[in-house]
Amino acid sequence: MNYIEVLPLDKLPEGSQKVVALGVVKIALFHFNGEITAMANACLHKAGPLALGLVEKKYDGLYVTCPWHGWEYNIKTGSAPPGYHDQQALYEVKVENGKIFVSEKPIVKAKHAEHPEKKLLEDLEKLKYQTTPGSCNVLGISSTNMNGAIPRYSTSEAALEKALEYAKSKYGAATKMIKLRDLEFRHCEGYYSQHQNACTWPCSISEMNPDDGMNEVYRAMILWADVVLFATPIRWGTASSLYFKMVERLNCVQNQITIKDRILIKDKVASLIITGGQDNIQAVAAQMMVFLTDIGFTFPPFSFVGWSRGWSAEDMDRNIQLFAKSTYIDRSVKELVDNTVRLSGLLKQHPSNTFNAPLPKISESPSGMEEEIKKSNSSV
Ligand code: FES
Repeated sequence: MNYIEVLPLDKLPEGSQKVVALGVVKIALFHFNGEITAMANACLHKAGPLALGLVEKKYDGLYVTCPWHGWEYNIKTGSAPPGYHDQQALYEVKVENGKIFVSEKPIVKAKHAEHPEKKLLEDLEKLKYQTTPGSCNVLGISSTNMNGAIPRYSTSEAALEKALEYAKSKYGAATKMIKLRDLEFRHCEGYYSQHQNACTWPCSISEMNPDDGMNEVYRAMILWADVVLFATPIRWGTASSLYFKMVERLNCVQNQITIKDRILIKDKVASLIITGGQDNIQAVAAQMMVFLTDIGFTFPPFSFVGWSRGWSAEDMDRNIQLFAKSTYIDRSVKELVDNTVRLSGLLKQHPSNTFNAPLPKISESPSGMEEEIKKSNSSV
């Protein structure tokens, strides 16, 4: 077995860890309890950098936790914790004359074990779309957080229900309503902020917990719907916090464009229902539209219905009465559905296969450009 010198010993004091290069492979070196150990640096999950993980005593030894999504490896054996069968590539280490040497090849090979729970997300991972050329699947997403235990009248949800009923009766649409308040789902935990590849599709939280409520949203919105109607109350001049909680978890959809040049939402049409006692409808609509077009939704002309009564309208009981009786709401919700469903039909006749996403891509990021510049300089 050949050994390659990788680091002077004094650069890896007791209690420290470091990444080193072994040819093209990156190796995580650990120096704990007087012993130096080495394993492949790229986590078996999504290649997170193990050398940056926290090392702690747990289970039956010392384990490093991947800083991306928390997979753990015994730093001495490279194996996953008891109960799991993954094995990280383990290298042999020798110390001679104050220098650390690592075996050229692993002494234990990496093994990626089966993770049965992954099967539960296969439809999302493989993007098994349920839309067809003839489907008219209309999804309503209600983002009011009115407490379901004490049912009350929500203007945004009432308008959404009206819209779905109309889509069903007028267009024979298949309809589905998701009330975000009924789903238990975790907040986005900022994996993207660690590394662009740490924000995965399906969402890494979904992978960790296949029961996470956002999986229902992903399936309905991305795989099933042709049309999505988003309804929100106005809360302090913006959409509801539940709407934003959902939006943050849709970062993984937009990120597929960034890192994989892959658009998940194509030929789907969206419209908005925005209601509040006070105003700011246009600003709320603009903010929602920017995000939703950025993940691929198409909007028809006249793509939102708004309701508000102005700054001084604090008589909210009256707001409900007026809303419920409003002929404007009755008409405009139907016209919104007409515009949205008709545009969906047109898109189905002319699918947008050739549309590109003029968004920043990782291959064009400043570090990607540095590589390009290096290449072009070396060829001059
Ligand atoms: S846990 Fe390591 S990359 Fe996901």
